[in-house]
Amino acid sequence: MAVTDKSDDFDVGTDVHAAINDLTRRLAEHSKNVDKEPIIKVAQPEHVPYLRKIGTPGAAHDVGTVLEEAFTAFDFRLRVNHPRFMGLIPSPTSPVAWLGDVVASAFNALGASKLQASGPVVIEKTLIEWLASRIGFPATAGGVCVSGGSMANLMGIVLARDRCVPHGEEQRAVAYLSDQTHYSVAKALRLLGFKSDRVRKLPSDESFRMDVGGLQQATRDDRASGLMPFLVVGSCGTTNTGAVDPLKRIADVCKTEGMWLHVDGAYGASVSLSATRRDVVNELQYADSLSWDAHKWLFQTYSCGLFIVKDKANMVKSFANKGDYLRDGTAFVDDDIPNFWNYTMELTRPASRAMKLWFTLRVIGTERIGEMIDHGFKLAERAESEIRALQDWEILSPANMGVVTFRYAARATAAEHGQHEEALDAINSRISKELISSNVAGILTTKVQGKVALRICALSPHLALEDMAPVHPVALISEEDIIVTKQD
Ligand SMILES: Cc1ncc(COP(=O)(O)O)c(C=O)c1O
Repeated sequence: MAVTDKSDDFDVGTDVHAAINDLTRRLAEHSKNVDKEPIIKVAQPEHVPYLRKIGTPGAAHDVGTVLEEAFTAFDFRLRVNHPRFMGLIPSPTSPVAWLGDVVASAFNALGASKLQASGPVVIEKTLIEWLASRIGFPATAGGVCVSGGSMANLMGIVLARDRCVPHGEEQRAVAYLSDQTHYSVAKALRLLGFKSDRVRKLPSDESFRMDVGGLQQATRDDRASGLMPFLVVGSCGTTNTGAVDPLKRIADVCKTEGMWLHVDGAYGASVSLSATRRDVVNELQYADSLSWDAHKWLFQTYSCGLFIVKDKANMVKSFANKGDYLRDGTAFVDDDIPNFWNYTMELTRPASRAMKLWFTLRVIGTERIGEMIDHGFKLAERAESEIRALQDWEILSPANMGVVTFRYAARATAAEHGQHEEALDAINSRISKELISSNVAGILTTKVQGKVALRICALSPHLALEDMAPVHPVALISEEDIIVTKQD
């Protein structure tokens, strides 16, 4: 068979190889200096025409020119790995994860089956089994890498339905969440055809945890009405306040009622690798299935989610498929090198999710990763103690799993309370905006018990504890704010 000339890589010329060399150097430099960049840079209306112009493919362009265009486009972004980005759930990406992603992308292995990527498939299986053992799952456990928590939550609901709801009884099936459960769960239930009157959003307790008494009562009431409780979704690290639901007690209720317990650990499950805080999540072992995002607290590039099940046979029962043209791959039945297309919704799936996580854990080592996770706890705890020392500031939810919420809250008389709350909401929203525009800290707002709160979720190993002193938010309180909030 004749070998064609490879010097002209897909007609872009040999300079693509030089560009790869230059690029890795430039990106390594960039990731080292991200702390000197704007934390959040949003494209303004005047930037859109240029972005639209380069967004239109057209004729061939020189690689170097298009790389510059890519750098321009990416400049308009929230730097999720900026040490002072403390909003949403940051992704303080390790450059090692990025390197692992680059390697995996270059090989472009299709991690769907033994035929397609037996090496990476064994790595993925081994890695997931190791992670499952860290949360206390038995040897029957297994799982797959997925795009993220939203997909893993959807898959957990599919398994719950397929195991706990007899065919034809779907209309009677009821799922239980709390008012703090991530919205992706309700969305997945809706997409799977569960009507909103079959989804109970139970009020959480004063610590934002699922109220088990309320859960028991709700399941009893539903049974009495002829309905069929089938699923509870617990949270391990809610997005808003970091709360961990009482998973053991919830699991006991599930056992009594014949329900599946899916735990959304998209944020918090990584704590099972922590050096000193693992106890906080040791009730994860009671889940039937689990969502776990490595692109949150395991320092991975997007996307890198995990779906782990206590008994992996359940995944095959729900997701196994057959296709005539896959028969050569299906012929391999090998428990050591599984066909992951039988474990998940996806057929085409990148091997990169598992490979970059493996690469990171292998290079950095689990001990150091554990310390890096612990640092997130300490940052939030330090922020809380600094804020508690201030007059006129209050903690709305104490440091929990690396999250703390707080606000400026000068006291007012009861008579003017309504107006006063509005003024405080406006002041705290303004503080967040000014912290961002001055590039001091990417602290965003949320609502806690109806009040606008500043929320810190800081996970970067490059952020020092001393940086958590809220000197800057305090400086942003003006004389005018004090008059508005204190007048009587
Ligand atoms: C607790 C929780 N669950 C689920 C999700 C959704 O995960 P993903 O964005 O990876 O789909 C998030 C996202 O922040 C989350 O915090």
